Amino acid sequence: MQVRFASERPQGAYALALLVSKVEGDDPRLPSGSPAGLIDASAQQQRFDGEAAGIAEMFLGEENGARRVLLIGLGKEAATGALYEKIGGTLAARLLCSGETSLVIDLSGLGLDGDAAARVALGAALRSWRHDAYRTTLKAKQRPTLTEVVVVGGSADAEILWQARYAPVVAGVSFARDLVTEPANVIYPVSFVDRCRSLADLGVEIEILEPEEMKRLGMNSLLAVAQGSAQPARLLAMHWNGAKDAGDDARTVAFVGKGVTFDTGGISIKPAAGMEAMKWDMGGAAAVAGAMTVLAMRKAKANVIGVCTLAENMPSGTAQRPGDVVTSMSGQTIEVINTDAEGRMVLCDAMTWVQQKHEPEIMIDLATLTGAMIISLGHEYAGVFCNDDALAAQIDAAGKASGDSTWRLPLGEAYDRLIDSPIADMKNSGPREGGSITAASFLGRYVEEGVKWAHIDIAGMVWANKAAPLWDKGATGYGVRLIDQLVEDLFEV
Ligand code: BES
Ligand code: MN
Ligand code: ZN
Repeated sequence: MQVRFASERPQGAYALALLVSKVEGDDPRLPSGSPAGLIDASAQQQRFDGEAAGIAEMFLGEENGARRVLLIGLGKEAATGALYEKIGGTLAARLLCSGETSLVIDLSGLGLDGDAAARVALGAALRSWRHDAYRTTLKAKQRPTLTEVVVVGGSADAEILWQARYAPVVAGVSFARDLVTEPANVIYPVSFVDRCRSLADLGVEIEILEPEEMKRLGMNSLLAVAQGSAQPARLLAMHWNGAKDAGDDARTVAFVGKGVTFDTGGISIKPAAGMEAMKWDMGGAAAVAGAMTVLAMRKAKANVIGVCTLAENMPSGTAQRPGDVVTSMSGQTIEVINTDAEGRMVLCDAMTWVQQKHEPEIMIDLATLTGAMIISLGHEYAGVFCNDDALAAQIDAAGKASGDSTWRLPLGEAYDRLIDSPIADMKNSGPREGGSITAASFLGRYVEEGVKWAHIDIAGMVWANKAAPLWDKGATGYGVRLIDQLVEDLFEV
């Protein structure tokens, strides 16, 4: 989607959108000569009275034909950035395949600041993302037509904000959605890494570990998950050093993303129904890669490491078995009760590695870790588990500001006892009850003294079964904006 900002409406064919808090048929922003009574009646028949992000649509005569005009509601309460995004997204969704090629959103006279105008554009751009690469027989009427959004009458700094702050967000979220959407025969550990190589052009330093090196380092837990697959594991670390005082004592945050490029469950195999969804079991890694894209594009003043721990979980003659005991890089031993509890096994070695090698002050992992997370919070919030109240509060605030909502859940000794093993230091899975918490507790055993840590279980958030104002059905890009916002809040304000 092309996004432009202009001080006046362009010439020619386009659909016109006007933000209104109530319907006024004689609004001077409407095409001149529009019949006021007809506009009022038409809005009324659509039961539109300016409600937030509601739409009344009409065609009004103009010199050379008819123009599609959309009145979109600002609601009764003071508008927020989130509402401006929702307005942009709702308009884009409505027009994406409508036959219109250009959408002009006229904000003149509303006295909005640059951020509001830029966020209308952000919403429209995010909602326009699609992945049509494999649809070769789409009928003409199903194809997107909208290629351009022009925001008119925003303040002069809207375009600067767009370029500096929001266009990078669109790029990062789109990248994450692409990675999540691609099937597992296209995205596997090696090809995931290949897709991230272009981040080097943005100034991101790329570090890659292959199985031989992992073996040498003792990453037997990560390797145990990968051993059933023909696809070799990878560990990808992306470094963005944007803090001015970069050096040994510069504060660093590490994000660690679960990148299981397909999760069959392994020998503890999952049921066939719905298993195709497990192509997006790398949504945590995609969020990390998308966020690194945003941070580099907007030249964030922070030192951030993004780690993607990449493996495919397959059943085969070389696969790990229930009952196996493996020694993780930390030296702690794991009894593999269930080969489907593989996420924590790929994460723990990546967490040990990043703490030993790069000593971050804060470490945050994002993972589609447990089905139990979807049972507890549905698709509204990701679950947060954290060993530091101040960090938890900052994640909560970043979730609210970014729209990537989070909700904190408990950790504790009693839960941790549930993963004690009779033969090893821990079991890789506990009882059904509290399944998300015991998974978090497992990861907690890999956090080193003094490191502030949060685990974010995003199992319910990566994929949407229904469309929303900022995404269609499918990949949401969840986590990219959360990380980006959190980095800004932690290091840049
Ligand atoms: N990737 C799954 C979790 C998941 C399930 C994410 C459904 C999204 C939708 C994870 O690897 C898994 O299989 N977890 C098990 C853990 C259990 C074996 C302790 C689960 O949640 O059932
Ligand atoms: Mn699994
Ligand atoms: Zn998994």
